[in-house]
Amino acid sequence: MYRTHTCGELRLNDVSKEVTLAGWVQRVHSKGGVTFIGLRDRYGITQLIVDNNSADTVKEIVGKLGREFVIQTQGKVVERSAKNPKIPTGDIEIAVTAIKILNQAETPPFTIEEESDGGDELRLKYRYLDLRRPPLQHNIMLRHRMAQSVRSYLDSQGFLEIETPFLIRSTPEGARDFVVPSRMNAGEFYALPQSPQTFKQLLMVSGYDKYFQIVRCFRDEDLRADRQPEFTQIDCEMSFVEREDVLNTFEGLAKYLFKSVLNLEFSDKFPRISYAEAMNKYGSDKPDIRFGMEFHELTDKVKGKGKNFVVFDSVEYVGSICAKGCAEYTRKQLDALTDFVKRPQVGAKGLVYIRWSAEGIKSSIDKFYTPDELQAIATGMGAKQGDLILILAGDRKKTQEALGTLRLEMGVRLGLCDNTKFAPLWVVDFPLFEWDEETQRFYATHHPFTSPNPDQLDLFNSNKKEDIQQVTANAYDFVVNGSEIGGGSIRIFDSNMQKQMFKLLGFTQEEAEAQFGFIINAFKYGAPPHGGIAFGFDRWCAIFGGADSIRDYIAFPKNNSGRDTMLDSPAPIAQAQLDELNIRLNLKKE
Ligand code: AMO
Repeated sequence: MYRTHTCGELRLNDVSKEVTLAGWVQRVHSKGGVTFIGLRDRYGITQLIVDNNSADTVKEIVGKLGREFVIQTQGKVVERSAKNPKIPTGDIEIAVTAIKILNQAETPPFTIEEESDGGDELRLKYRYLDLRRPPLQHNIMLRHRMAQSVRSYLDSQGFLEIETPFLIRSTPEGARDFVVPSRMNAGEFYALPQSPQTFKQLLMVSGYDKYFQIVRCFRDEDLRADRQPEFTQIDCEMSFVEREDVLNTFEGLAKYLFKSVLNLEFSDKFPRISYAEAMNKYGSDKPDIRFGMEFHELTDKVKGKGKNFVVFDSVEYVGSICAKGCAEYTRKQLDALTDFVKRPQVGAKGLVYIRWSAEGIKSSIDKFYTPDELQAIATGMGAKQGDLILILAGDRKKTQEALGTLRLEMGVRLGLCDNTKFAPLWVVDFPLFEWDEETQRFYATHHPFTSPNPDQLDLFNSNKKEDIQQVTANAYDFVVNGSEIGGGSIRIFDSNMQKQMFKLLGFTQEEAEAQFGFIINAFKYGAPPHGGIAFGFDRWCAIFGGADSIRDYIAFPKNNSGRDTMLDSPAPIAQAQLDELNIRLNLKKE
């Protein structure tokens, strides 16, 4: 037996037990003739001690120990004189009677402790070492716990876990596909699924009325903190359901996860807001509602009202937020905020402020509006003395988005984004289509199988651009703390409606057949009404862990350029492999 206990297990009531432990040496340090060794495994860290009374053989081996050596040790559990309240095993230590080196280790390229001195790239290259660190082990264990909870809840609700293939043909979703050449079918390619969307709909046709899968998805898109080229979804679909049924079922899943993983109880229904309301109040389709600071639209109050202030007079939209208690912001702080909103990622042209301090109202537009007018704006927003009002103006959507980014920035500055607090909500009634100016055509906001809301059919069947633009989708997103955790919809199951959808998306009958023939065909044989949702599992884990980046919740993630620096992948392949695949490279010269 290599061990009787783990390195995280022993407590005061184990004192005087003879134990055997095995693990990695985190640290060795000697003081006044006593050597302390921190022995680590994924359960914790236990202190070993070797002193003058220890056997010479033990002392000799201890003298050879280095960081990350794998050892086995025997000894007696004793109470520590200097306790360490920071770790669960901090009341005891092991007086070593025997020690054995199971394996040596080269000096690791960075310290493997709670905090590491290694940079991101180095730690990714040696991911297997980084994964030894307690914070990462905690994340991986959290992920495991969540996966178990998901399975247990969905199984209890009668869902079947069914796998779907990875080698498929392109799925009609937004991003680029990763493709895989076929050796047996020269010149043809599989695509890796961006999601199992079409398969889960086919499973509904087959009668598996409650399906789920914790499944890898692949998207060749630019990476961000919350995006990886391969990521995991909790993918779900149900038959004979309306939106209400889907939302209730998965609100149940979310509440079960909050309770079983974080021990948090949500007794009220999660708030639901429409896409339009989310944009008007928060400038985002994934609002962070841990704090208020909702927008106030000022367009009608200021446009054409002051003394020729072109900035407001010439625009479609003027909106503002109220930063409580920020009236004393200095010139420098306001300049910094102006620079912030002018950054290309935010995209505003400038920032107007009104500050209401003890001396009264002062603003950057004093020349254009009277003190009474400014006072009326401030009071109308519910501002109080001590507050700072920040205003942006421009095109409606862009300006709302910029104001949304400013709102989040102020939320962070004011300490309103506490990562141990959770604010879940549903955003519903997204536009069904997005118009693309460049290609002069509509795109499906979600995907081409999403149905319009039942009360929108007249608009949907009209062929006028203005009507089509207004159609809302029977779709929903699940949002927590400003992160889109999941999205789904009630699907089209009527072939005439599907035809109209393809027509609006600019597909000819032949093109639709070529791309989606298999599903159009399947739907001829009795498709039930159905709908579903997919959650970004990595994102959900990161949010539960209080982190922004999903990378640390994935055992072996890619870096920002989509590379696996540990495997040094992607990598060229041998000419013989290319020949077998009938592929000739035509690399562009930089
Ligand atoms: P959607 O494309 O919205 O819907 O994806 C569902 C959820 O998956 C997560 N997600 C990602 N996570 C990490 N890295 C990525 N690159 C990435 N892309 C998406 C998000 C998102 O909310 N088939 C539909 C679902 C349906 O209609 O049932 C779909 O895939 O959290």
